Amino acid sequence: GGTAAIVPAAGRGERLGPGEPKALRSIGGIPILVHAVGSLVSSGRIDLVVVAAPPGSVDGVRELLRAFDSVVRVVPGGGTRQQSVSLALDAIGEEHEIVLVHDAARALTPPALVGAIVDAVACGHDAVVPVLPVADTIKAVDPAGANVTGTVDRSTLRAVQTPQGFRRSLLVKAHAAAASTDTTDDAGLVERLGMPVSVVAGHAEAFKVTTPFDLLLAEAVWAERRK
Ligand code: C5P
Repeated sequence: GGTAAIVPAAGRGERLGPGEPKALRSIGGIPILVHAVGSLVSSGRIDLVVVAAPPGSVDGVRELLRAFDSVVRVVPGGGTRQQSVSLALDAIGEEHEIVLVHDAARALTPPALVGAIVDAVACGHDAVVPVLPVADTIKAVDPAGANVTGTVDRSTLRAVQTPQGFRRSLLVKAHAAAASTDTTDDAGLVERLGMPVSVVAGHAEAFKVTTPFDLLLAEAVWAERRK
């Protein structure tokens, strides 16, 4: 069976400050969304990428991604990330047995990580997320955020990245069961069904480009790759 990927990119991306939507900001002169789609496609493991665009920008996003015309479909997104993923999922047929969901903001995701996620789902893990160990010491604080109430055991915590990979039928079921919530994470919807979610090793370069600092880091990583 085939493998499809969903890229929800219909948000406004306020966190990088005023200006263009986050997914349209550039790294090395190439829009973040184009990088993200490029890493999915260059993995060689994805037959179809469905991008959820802001409803008013579907044509513009289609134009931006024209280099990937043969594999990319652009659909209008919804009011929340979850709705955008659901709408993109509606555009993916049953011939795609595996579906990945990938943040547009994880622009520099190594194609090998995409392949590792596809492999894990193909091996029978119906929901798979890339994770990294947590580097910082994690403290719990009181509701006011003023005082430390404890130190959390870091050894059983992981930071979660994308692409997250799913057997299509499970992702459809998870979205149908969670119609009115707004989770930021598709694996979380699978957990709500009580179904297992497996992990594979993530990659530092799959970081999310969210702040101006991240953009600076991304420029440096991209410049290093170009050498
Ligand atoms: O705004 P936030 O950073 O939580 O958005 C996470 C991701 O979900 C972004 O890639 C954003 O474009 C996407 N999103 C979407 N549809 C929305 C809201 C957010 O596709 N209505």
